[in-house]
Amino acid sequence: MSDPTGPTESDGRAGPDALRARAVEALLAARERTAVLTSCVDDGELTAQHSPLMSPLVWDLAHIGNQEELWLLRNVAGREPMHPEIDSVYDAFEHPRAARPSLPLLAPADARRYASDVRGRVLDVLEHTPLEGSPLLDAGFAFGMVAQHEQQHDETMLITHQLRRGPVALTAPPPPGPTGGTTAGKPEEVLIPGGPFTMGTSTEPWALDNERPAHHRFVPAFLMDTTPVSNGAYLHFIEDGGYTDGRWWTDEGWAQVRTNRLAAPLFWHREGSQWLRRRFGVVEPVPEDEPVMHVSWYEADAYAKWAGRRLPSEAEWEKAARYDPVSGRSLRYPWGDADPTPRRANLGQRHLQPAPVGAYADGESPLGVRQLMGDVWEWTSSDFLPYPGFTAFPYPEYSEVFFGSAHKVLRGGSFAVDPVACRGTFRNWDLPMRRQIFSGFRTARDAQDA
Ligand code: AVJ
Ligand code: FE
Repeated sequence: MSDPTGPTESDGRAGPDALRARAVEALLAARERTAVLTSCVDDGELTAQHSPLMSPLVWDLAHIGNQEELWLLRNVAGREPMHPEIDSVYDAFEHPRAARPSLPLLAPADARRYASDVRGRVLDVLEHTPLEGSPLLDAGFAFGMVAQHEQQHDETMLITHQLRRGPVALTAPPPPGPTGGTTAGKPEEVLIPGGPFTMGTSTEPWALDNERPAHHRFVPAFLMDTTPVSNGAYLHFIEDGGYTDGRWWTDEGWAQVRTNRLAAPLFWHREGSQWLRRRFGVVEPVPEDEPVMHVSWYEADAYAKWAGRRLPSEAEWEKAARYDPVSGRSLRYPWGDADPTPRRANLGQRHLQPAPVGAYADGESPLGVRQLMGDVWEWTSSDFLPYPGFTAFPYPEYSEVFFGSAHKVLRGGSFAVDPVACRGTFRNWDLPMRRQIFSGFRTARDAQDA
């Protein structure tokens, strides 16, 4: 669309001291989380492969250090490689996850020492580097990118912990239930008016390449669920024979159901008439009011069809999350331009499960949609594609090599992702068959069906 005023979005700029402080804080917070995830099990468990879907935890640990060394010490500061012989071991494109246990990995103590040596030097570089003058340095982008990378691997490591069998290693208090303004009396779906809105960003300083640039999108009127789909709602699909009726499934989805004899989300099993689930080593009855989680895109899509609805497109999701009908602007987050807080969203592994549907009244979007940030990643109907005007930055292996019809976009962020790697514009993606991720969904329908 052409518009003489250009895309309108809010601006997340800050002064140089505030940016440096934010970078230090983001790096320290990420390392604190990494330390928790890699110190709660013994060395044997750090080097073991808990699932062929995942790397040994000690690989993630040294890979975090290696990427930080590559971007901040070699590229930003021009330093020589510390241990050039290990680079290929920690190159995610050279070795698939299933093959990583047999690589000559650094032992846990060496991996810890390496990551911490890198970090010591990085903090020194950060203190003495102007955060301007090149796209990599402007607003401290490279430091923010590295903090986001570590937090993304912290979510990956939490997925490994969820797949791991054995005694409980991680615990956290439960998230708050619906408070104050509960969803009681709220509509189950919200009308998102038709018209253009600003999608993506050109001003958010640490936004990654695939979120850029800001551009106009026309989105026809549609209706979207106020909350993510709950376990209770999903149980109706199961009990109605959803997994035995090919009508609801795409061909690939139906093949996945038949080949793997799927009958429920991952980590669920039935005992008598009761559904139980395993969550970080604890088996408990499936809580009906929690967002459904550990479903593939195929399961999300099948449920939506069974319910007479559909998944929202990525543009619909972002409009529901960011569009402010009063100002016409796109906000940084559903609740506005202010950073996330514990009252607005369930993020950052403070809790090890999503909050009940209807929680986080303070995180509601202007149009009244809840829990768009945090709790569960939400599958959209969309393939992972570049925005018009996309340029790979700073490396094509982050986003560009994944563009195409093989990957579906997830939006919003789970309880396991840190605020630094979660925004109204943030785009996650995965194969539609994936179930070990903290994935849920909500549904939508065209407004003319209303
Ligand atoms: C954006 C979550 C799909 O984990 O594959 C980590 C993030 N990229 N290291 C992934 C990432 C390189 C990526 N996702
Ligand atoms: Fe990585």
